[in-house]
Amino acid sequence: MPLRVPTGLPKLDSLLEGGIMKNSMILVTGGTGTGKTILCLQFLWEGLQKGEPCVYLSLEEDPDDIKADARQFGWDLEKYEEKGLFRIMFHDPFETDVSSVLVNQIEYIKAKRLVVDSMSMLGLYMKDQATVRKQLGKLMKAVKNAECTTLVTSEIVEESKALSRFGVEEFVVDGVIVLNYLGIGQEANRSLQIRKMRRTNHGKDIYPFKMTSKGIEIMKEGMGDILK
Ligand SMILES: Nc1ncnc2c1ncn2[C@@H]1O[C@H](COP(=O)(O)OP(=O)(O)OP(=O)(O)O)[C@@H](O)[C@H]1O
Ligand SMILES: [Mg+2]
Repeated sequence: MPLRVPTGLPKLDSLLEGGIMKNSMILVTGGTGTGKTILCLQFLWEGLQKGEPCVYLSLEEDPDDIKADARQFGWDLEKYEEKGLFRIMFHDPFETDVSSVLVNQIEYIKAKRLVVDSMSMLGLYMKDQATVRKQLGKLMKAVKNAECTTLVTSEIVEESKALSRFGVEEFVVDGVIVLNYLGIGQEANRSLQIRKMRRTNHGKDIYPFKMTSKGIEIMKEGMGDILK
């Protein structure tokens, strides 16, 4: 039985035999504004509460904005930054070899959890899909060796049938969580689906969720149950 890491979303853990596999790399994907960044922050916050050092690599948003995103849910990341348990950094993938920076940072604070947001930026400067796949594979290996459990985000371009920006990310990673936003009605307008999770008998339904003052809260029943 692989060791499990709780995600910070108790209902998601119950759909994943207790959490995501330790040292795995999971893709959180979805259209814009679906809650990818918030889910990642919730995952890191859970780790910080357990005393686990965490690293957040932003390739797009300003770290101050990300900390402000977190603050609205009561997640005071600065407190952990001061204690040396949390590191957040921005890197322009056009200018930096992100893989090596990342491994240094993980080793420096002995991070147990990592977020890379978003992978799409990392891929934009690569010449083709094969390079994205190879680089992501390399990153995954490096992070696994450092014994870190990782969430990476990718965007789904509107109207696209692919699960990620480049259509290769989902094949490399250990698991894929897809977030959706229907934009109709009040309640069930956001949902989550576990599209793949290696070595896990995971929930197969589409699960509506709400954004509450505590972050993402998955509702008790999946769409299949609701429609019955
Ligand atoms: N305090 C809040 N209460 C309720 N909903 C919120 C709150 N803060 C943000 N949201 C919702 O979450 C969305 C932003 O979530 P998030 O930044 O995680 O999305 P994302 O998928 O990372 O988007 P992006 O494409 O910008 O990276 C907002 O558009 C809004 O709908
Ligand atoms: Mg985001």
